[in-house]
Amino acid sequence: MHRSLRSRFRNLSPRDAILILLGAASMHIYSSFSYHLQDSPSIIFNTHLSSQDSLHNIPRPAPSVLLDAFHPPQPRKPPSPPSPSVPNLGHEIPQTELVSHAPGWTIFRNLYMADGTLFIVTSNPDSFPSVDFMTSTGLPADSTPESIAERMPTSRDMSVITPEEAHWRWGGQSERGHNNVFPVEGSTLLFNDPGQFLNHYYHFCAELLFGAWAFWHGTFRGASSTAPIPPFTRAIFPHATAEEWRDGPGMNFFFLRSAWPSLTVETEPDWLDRVSTTAPHPGGHHGRAWWFDTLLLADRSAAFRGPECGERTQRTAASAVKAVASREGGTGFLERGWWEPVRLNVLRFAGVSEDMLEIGKRAFKRTSNGSPKTGGVEEVVVTYVSRQAVKRHLVAEDHEGLVDALTEMCDRRGWELNIVAMERLSKEEQLAIAARTTFLVGVHGNGLTHLIMMPITPISMVIELFTPEGFAHDYEWTTRSLGMKHIAIWNDTSRSHPEVTNPNYPEGFQGEQIPVHGPYVAELIEDRADGFLP
Ligand SMILES: *[C@@H]1O[C@H](CO)[C@@H](O)[C@H](O)[C@H]1NC(C)=O
Repeated sequence: MHRSLRSRFRNLSPRDAILILLGAASMHIYSSFSYHLQDSPSIIFNTHLSSQDSLHNIPRPAPSVLLDAFHPPQPRKPPSPPSPSVPNLGHEIPQTELVSHAPGWTIFRNLYMADGTLFIVTSNPDSFPSVDFMTSTGLPADSTPESIAERMPTSRDMSVITPEEAHWRWGGQSERGHNNVFPVEGSTLLFNDPGQFLNHYYHFCAELLFGAWAFWHGTFRGASSTAPIPPFTRAIFPHATAEEWRDGPGMNFFFLRSAWPSLTVETEPDWLDRVSTTAPHPGGHHGRAWWFDTLLLADRSAAFRGPECGERTQRTAASAVKAVASREGGTGFLERGWWEPVRLNVLRFAGVSEDMLEIGKRAFKRTSNGSPKTGGVEEVVVTYVSRQAVKRHLVAEDHEGLVDALTEMCDRRGWELNIVAMERLSKEEQLAIAARTTFLVGVHGNGLTHLIMMPITPISMVIELFTPEGFAHDYEWTTRSLGMKHIAIWNDTSRSHPEVTNPNYPEGFQGEQIPVHGPYVAELIEDRADGFLP
């Protein structure tokens, strides 16, 4: 528990603080599944310390990594795809390759689909992970044994077949016959989840797309630090209609369209077109199949079958990040800045100025130039996301007390304070605030999803308020995976990684009587800004 932080940390040298932080950050790396990534040094979160680093207490990527992280590929010049031209499918059925895998996240080359079944064509089936770590039936999830059982995949969902069987199914019938295999070119994201977990800003943007980008970026960047990252061509939602992947406030479509403007979307009816057109003909005529060039299959139920998501974080994206992140002496996270290309696209689309988009870059530069005051951040911005008008919120007086404490602190320090009810702001207004927020404060809830739009600086922190004893990993894991600090608050106590807190939903978790001691929250923010809370 963090009590009297100033006294606890005041006597530490910056060097001690670095060691504490690095110790805290080192995690056991789960590595049962990894393909083509083991020997790659290029995606290590760089914790090399130069002499300048001792001026501040946050590990910082080496300059080349930093530069790279903040100079993402320009959206208007997409890198060329690495895959060769379309094979001559009329005459060959190339075998499926496993490019990268973590439970719930699998990138294939040459994957096939016919009549609703995904086909892996291989003469070496043992080189593929078990099907239940790749896919599921895609049915809605609850935690009953029945629901768990009905989400186990069958051979209708995915089958592993030999090249001979593929030829028997889809091959030309005579010497001069033509295979019935038709190309779906480019990079496909196949999101196998039901609408249940799509129509929500957090699950869609901060979990599904977040995990997809982490896995994609980590896989292709991991293969070679100069390799281009292939652009996404299409996203397919086989179990969701056009309405079902969109959320009420409209963040999901705004985010998807702005992050990847050229991406096309297919939903359930489109997928059913592809299914019915490849159904076997009556009378024994050979069937057709679709060939997918490069395909990322994401499946929530499969991710939960793996330890990183199922046992530790309950975050599907954590499975993806863990698998592609550093394996030697790192933090288990990707290099800082991995999310920046996506974030910048969304914020530029929302009209955020270039000057504001450089807050993180400037902060690290100022810090490395010996200006560690408030972590190099020129203008500290505190944003309190108020949920008082919606369910799950603070005791009324405690909300007032928090507002008073934050106001007093920001007045005294000359910091910007935003007290926002997100539901009253336009998407552009919400994103503009998130884009400059150094400290994001709020009760556990979807408003905190905007943390994925915060500038990453040496002091950036998310302060999540829970009812006593309550905890969930949603925002905690997500914050840390971006290289920021997360602190969980229970009234006047707090805890932060690596202190372990298990998920818990006690009575009152969703209630309207969540207590918080405002002055305590303000003190933590000042401690962090002043370098007393590493
Ligand atoms: C919250 O903390 C304050 C300050 O320590 C204390 O006075 C108050 O009783 C606490 N509230 C609850 C519900 O524990």
